[in-house]
Amino acid sequence: MGMGTWGMGGKYERDSSNFDESVKILRAGLDMGIKLIDVAELYGLGLTEEIVGEAIAGFARKDIFIISKVWKTNLRHDDVLKAMQGSLERLKTDYVDFYLIHWPSEDIPLAETMRAMEELADKGFARNIGVSNFSVELLSHLKRAKIAANQVEYNLIERSAEKDVIPYCKENGIKVIAYRPLARGNIASSQNKALEALAQKYNKTPAQIALNWITSKEIVAIPKAGSIAHLRENCGALGWKMNEADYIAL
Ligand SMILES: NC(=O)c1ccc[n+]([C@@H]2O[C@H](COP(=O)([O-])OP(=O)(O)OC[C@H]3O[C@@H](n4cnc5c(N)ncnc54)[C@H](OP(=O)(O)O)[C@@H]3O)[C@@H](O)[C@H]2O)c1
Repeated sequence: MGMGTWGMGGKYERDSSNFDESVKILRAGLDMGIKLIDVAELYGLGLTEEIVGEAIAGFARKDIFIISKVWKTNLRHDDVLKAMQGSLERLKTDYVDFYLIHWPSEDIPLAETMRAMEELADKGFARNIGVSNFSVELLSHLKRAKIAANQVEYNLIERSAEKDVIPYCKENGIKVIAYRPLARGNIASSQNKALEALAQKYNKTPAQIALNWITSKEIVAIPKAGSIAHLRENCGALGWKMNEADYIAL
């Protein structure tokens, strides 16, 4: 499991009002052993990457796993290289562990973008390269061995990735990373009776059941917590199992 960061430092705009609090939450997560942080150049127009850079200072870089993403308007060859440099500067690091194409472009040829992504991998700026929001059709155009991950929306409510994307990724050794694993908070507030019954049975919360269900499939979940209480609750989704019948029922 990793930590999502959407909204820390703003969404489509820079908003520094939660800067210090966000740094505190991410540092607390690292202390709790959640070493993966998901971010993107788009988030807070770069401010979110600055928050991550601040949060990881003081931790051994090799122990932390950073995912960042290049936005779809920056998918021309030279723009990808420039975007990466910007991200590294804001993150105050020499490399990211996963660098993803955030969203496919309808205008810029994928082959051109991939050439730049592969250069970044060859130069060591990106330890692994991957994609996000890619369909099976788009994935099939890529040289599979080089694609380490596909980040897609997946949670107990939004299940469409199960149809073909997840099976395709599993068959081809592409790691699936589930974004919005809590359906933007809607799972916790859904008051779904079946979920509440399972939460009671295992003495967990609905959010913990929902995250445990994702990670049980060997899919990485990256919930975003805006408080230490939510972060701690989300960490409690790991390290235990439900009965097989309950996973199937979910
Ligand atoms: N690749 C992509 O295109 C893409 C798209 C969307 C998101 N993402 C990534 O995926 C991450 C996760 O997605 P997301 O942030 O949109 O949605 P999410 O993680 O499903 O949900 C976040 C919401 O859930 C609430 N929450 C967190 N823990 C909770 C808990 N234990 N109980 C109740 N509510 C809880 C949060 O509230 P508080 O803030 O109050 O804790 C927040 O409102 C993002 O942060 C981002 O890094 C990627």
